[in-house]
Amino acid sequence: MGSPQRPPLAHVFRGTFVHSRPSAPMEILHGHLLGVDDGGTIVFLEQTDQQEQLAKKWGFKPSDIRELSNHEFFMPGMVDTHIHAPQYSFTGTRVDLPLLQWLTTYTFPTEAKYKDSDFAEEVYTRVVRRTLKNGTTTACYFATIYTDTTLLLAEIIDKFGQRAFVGKVCMDINDSVPQYKESTADSVQETERFVKELLEKKYPRVQPVITPRFGPSCTEDLLRALGNLAQDHDLHVQSHISENEGELKLVENMFPAYQNYTELYDKNKLLTSKTVMAHACYLSEEELKLFSLRGAAISHCPNSNFSLCSGVLNVQKVLKHNVKLGLGTDVAGGYSASMLDAIRKTMISSNSLQIYKVNETRLTLEEAFQLATLGGSQALGLDDVIGNFEVGKEFDALLINTKASDSPFDLFSADNFEDTLQKFLYLGDDRNISEVYVAGKQVVPFSSPV
Ligand code: GUN
Ligand code: FE
Repeated sequence: MGSPQRPPLAHVFRGTFVHSRPSAPMEILHGHLLGVDDGGTIVFLEQTDQQEQLAKKWGFKPSDIRELSNHEFFMPGMVDTHIHAPQYSFTGTRVDLPLLQWLTTYTFPTEAKYKDSDFAEEVYTRVVRRTLKNGTTTACYFATIYTDTTLLLAEIIDKFGQRAFVGKVCMDINDSVPQYKESTADSVQETERFVKELLEKKYPRVQPVITPRFGPSCTEDLLRALGNLAQDHDLHVQSHISENEGELKLVENMFPAYQNYTELYDKNKLLTSKTVMAHACYLSEEELKLFSLRGAAISHCPNSNFSLCSGVLNVQKVLKHNVKLGLGTDVAGGYSASMLDAIRKTMISSNSLQIYKVNETRLTLEEAFQLATLGGSQALGLDDVIGNFEVGKEFDALLINTKASDSPFDLFSADNFEDTLQKFLYLGDDRNISEVYVAGKQVVPFSSPV
């Protein structure tokens, strides 16, 4: 490949591309050509009748084109807007208690083990590989209160080439597992050190995120200091809000001076256009309006909400309020690390609201697909970089093979492309995700087995 005036393209693909636009939950583009430059940026997406002009302009030959077969297509990489990396060790177990008991019984004792870097390295390697293989090209991670192993998580993410936000968890209240908390001053100082050291690594696609665990784990002093830090350094923020009724009561009792949970974060400068809050099942209209006003986003984690019997988020109501929304696995409150599962549980969650006549309509599968891709990129403030195949964005993509040799679903001659796509979204898994790209670089299959 190559032309005298431009560096050669990294990839030219020809075939079917499926993605979302802000105005269209799903766009299916058959017979298209997509070019990616050596910086990982999409430089064209055009119909194949433009091939000659494109070849001239970009300096590629027909033999440089990778032709997809008719049972393959590309879709954007999925964005997990809320996942706890250390909880991956017990994912798929112990979702049998309500949130606050689940935290004290299983979660805090497990997270306390991440002082040990050998244990952390093993689990963090597994969670990054598992999520990437399942099509999560971007993840917004909670780690633990331990700065050094949180930096190790960032290093592992960079090594495998995933795009991510990584947060050192902050908590200065923990009555049930007192060894798993920090002093207010340590929490703030360690967060400053974490941000500084992570930024110094200059990983191209791994950024720090300020991470107060949630209201009940933090004093007002800690929340205020973290809000100031986020403001001073213009950083992203993540936390949990209004997940479960017990949590809500606790917040009311602990912070009586605030009108509501959202105000607790807002008054402490933690509700900004760079904030993503998980769950939000019980927000009032007033709180949703404040989210919208601030440009703060919500991470919808339906597997977790059902598994821990926390609540049901009314996604359609949130979207009507013009609040940005993405999907999250919330491993390990959610028992699956797969964003395809998050799409499926989003459908079930929305259906349940129609069954109980809360909503007159329900989300479509296309809308759930949009939330898992473009919606997630909007929630994390990355929609000018990723989320769909618009020219100028980076190529974060999944090559889907609907006839993989061990595919978990069957296709029949009556199935058209839309049927095949639905079967993949409802029934497919990592066996159908044959290649994963982040910023134009192929990151799955992995270069080394573990
Ligand atoms: N609220 C505070 N911490 C957590 C957590 O680890 N998981 C979930 N689901 N909710 C939380
Ligand atoms: Fe969570």
